[in-house]
Amino acid sequence: MSGRLDARTALVTGSTSGLGRAIADAFAAEGAHTVLTGRNKTAGEDAVAALRAAGRRADFVPADLAEGVPAARHVAEEAERLLGGRVDILVNNAGIVPVGPTDEFDEETYDRAWTVNVKSAFFLTARLAPAMGARGGGVVINTGSIVVSHGLAGSALYSATKAAIESLTMSWAAEYGPRGVRVNTISPGLVVTEGTVGGLERVEAMAAGSPAGRVGRAEEIGPLAVYLASDDAAYVHGSSFTLDGGWSTARR
Ligand SMILES: NC(=O)c1ccc[n+]([C@@H]2O[C@H](COP(=O)([O-])OP(=O)(O)OC[C@H]3O[C@@H](n4cnc5c(N)ncnc54)[C@H](OP(=O)(O)O)[C@@H]3O)[C@@H](O)[C@H]2O)c1
Repeated sequence: MSGRLDARTALVTGSTSGLGRAIADAFAAEGAHTVLTGRNKTAGEDAVAALRAAGRRADFVPADLAEGVPAARHVAEEAERLLGGRVDILVNNAGIVPVGPTDEFDEETYDRAWTVNVKSAFFLTARLAPAMGARGGGVVINTGSIVVSHGLAGSALYSATKAAIESLTMSWAAEYGPRGVRVNTISPGLVVTEGTVGGLERVEAMAAGSPAGRVGRAEEIGPLAVYLASDDAAYVHGSSFTLDGGWSTARR
């Protein structure tokens, strides 16, 4: 263990699978006591058991962030309790990907997407970032998406929630940065996870034309998240880091 996050505490939402799980694994491997959360109790408890078996410090808080502010408050309070009263690093990663024509979404699906993807991040940050600032510093990492800068048919609802996340990153960098809280976005794309495996063929076809020429692996987000969470990124505020094998900016 290299210990770049030794003595730090972290809360990673949406960490029962995919990118969040990979971030939680990477944080714990670097020494952070890490709280995982999500709805899937079995997956969360299995992830924590695997981390503990490897000698890491980890706990799981089951929660459904679609339940809004009370759920976000519960996750924040439980994380603080389990982490000795402080959360140094918050990763707002929980997300759902509603796909379809704009005229086919109902109000419930619309509200659910905004609640899980944006509202939970908003109220978790509101609850935890001021305390980070009062302690002298902290880190918030938001999971965005490459879709915010590309018009993709069928992605209107999802893209709008992720554009809100990018905007919040910049606003929070301005608001909390002066108090020592660094806020940044990781914008993934074309990474195979439990959340994207359903559209694997389409994702593989898109990835084939990128400089990397392949889809991404969940664990490839870990080193970037560790960097942003660590003091190595001390001068990095309000930025968005793309993780898509170059698909957004270049073609072979
Ligand atoms: N993979 C990609 O290429 C890609 C690209 C761009 C952006 N992203 C973003 O990356 C993040 C992670 O996605 P992923 O690809 O890793 O997909 P994933 O494997 O489906 O992970 C989604 C995570 O969010 C949690 N979650 C979903 N609904 C929730 C709810 N109501 N309450 C609490 N937790 C909830 C899930 O946990 P439970 O099921 O246990 O609740 C799971 O841990 C998302 O924000 C997604 O939009 C991914």
